[in-house]
Amino acid sequence: MSLNANLLNSSTFRLAAVYLVVFAISVGAILAYIYWNTAVLLERQTDVTIRAEVNSLNEQYRLGRPNPIAVIVGIVKRRAERNSDRGIYSIFDYSGKRIVGNLEGVPSGVTGKSGWIEFPYNVFDGENLKFHTGRAYFTRLRGGFILVVGRDVEERRQFAALIRRTVFIALGMTLVFGLGGGLLMSRNFLRRIDTISATSRSIMAGDLSERMPVRGTNDEIDRLSANLNDMLDQIERLMSGMREVSDNVAHDLRTSLTRLKARVEAALRQDCEQAYEQALMETITESDQLLETFNALLNITRAETGQARDQFEPLDVGEVVDELAELYEPLIEDAGAVFEVRTVLGLMVRGNRQLLAQAVSNLIDNAIKYGQPPKSKKAVQNISLKVATEQDSVRITVADNGPGIPEKDQERVLKRFVRLDSSRSQPGSGLGLSLVGGLARLHDGELELQNEKNGFSIALILPALGQSR
Ligand SMILES: Nc1ncnc2c1ncn2[C@@H]1O[C@H](COP(=O)(O)OP(=O)(O)OP(=O)(O)O)[C@@H](O)[C@H]1O
Ligand SMILES: [Mg+2]
Repeated sequence: MSLNANLLNSSTFRLAAVYLVVFAISVGAILAYIYWNTAVLLERQTDVTIRAEVNSLNEQYRLGRPNPIAVIVGIVKRRAERNSDRGIYSIFDYSGKRIVGNLEGVPSGVTGKSGWIEFPYNVFDGENLKFHTGRAYFTRLRGGFILVVGRDVEERRQFAALIRRTVFIALGMTLVFGLGGGLLMSRNFLRRIDTISATSRSIMAGDLSERMPVRGTNDEIDRLSANLNDMLDQIERLMSGMREVSDNVAHDLRTSLTRLKARVEAALRQDCEQAYEQALMETITESDQLLETFNALLNITRAETGQARDQFEPLDVGEVVDELAELYEPLIEDAGAVFEVRTVLGLMVRGNRQLLAQAVSNLIDNAIKYGQPPKSKKAVQNISLKVATEQDSVRITVADNGPGIPEKDQERVLKRFVRLDSSRSQPGSGLGLSLVGGLARLHDGELELQNEKNGFSIALILPALGQSR
């Protein structure tokens, strides 16, 4: 569709057109009212005056003694000579000859007994002879006399014509300006919409980095564009996240499979039963790790899509953490570390017991793996697990006295497969914190990572349900 067809079809233009029609009707009504008041009403008033004069002359004619015609001839003569109110007064005899008055001859249109006539007649304004329009009422009197009483309505007619012209010009201008304004407005509007469509088409064609133009006027279109841009940012983030994940999965899978293959090939070359057995055992371990990685990935996806939400129930965080502490205590002490547990019972949240336990386990795992104090400090590894309440949330904190995570990496480590270089010596696939983050969001909570003066703490903050005990 061409721009013009679009223009006439646009909602702005239609709106402008409706406005225009309403506006034109009101302008027309106002002008018609003015016209009515000036031209039509004035004319009516003139007619009323003429009628009154005619009536009174008729009356005087009827009552005139001794010679009725002489009486009104006198009156008509005086009035015709007064000539101040543009009056037309004349009396003609039966043959049409003027007896008295300011008309030269019987005006055209005089037929029948009496009636209204409009006629052209000559007026001498002192210099020129001019044609004017007169409006009069004629009456045939007894004896064939014709009485004509009227007014010169030339000026009034011209005035009315002027007003009529003005009305049409005003209406025409209203339409032209309104139509022009409407077109201009909708063209402006359409242009912006067209840019948005063009941009969205080019985004659909694959250029996700494009953004809608924002003028900074904060009008509807600007706000719409800004929202679309936010949406695009989000989509871009998600897309690049997805790409990263699939890259990482592929990479992880390839590394493991290469290792597997190399091991099997090496065993085959050795051609000895023991080597075969060894290789098979290692293959199983490696496969287990691979399976674990995939399970972790699936769990993260499940947490992020919120699938487990319908199985949520109120649960006591203190209880969950206590059970975990019991489970981990021997493990931590075996590793030669100190384990400090401080929990409060009765802090309730809505959630899934198993998933919450999984999240906290991941944090404790990390504290054990990465929370060793630097050798130079000659300190004992210290791990603490605390549950506390804070306004309307419950905070589960796992802290250690290790090196922590540099601030610049704190956001990054929450992503899938991200492991810091300093941790390469430890086993792991970089999915633990991702899952914790996903589980936190699943529970409407958040994660808070903090480097302490003497170590590192990570807190899982969940919305509280209120205390039950
Ligand atoms: N308590 C901690 N102290 C120091 N660094 C940590 C700590 N916890 C996590 N990290 C860093 O964050 C990275 C990501 O942790 P995450 O738990 O996601 O993965 P992982 O422990 O390496 O592997 P996985 O948990 O999948 O076995 C770790 O590799 C480590 O570098
Ligand atoms: Mg981990």
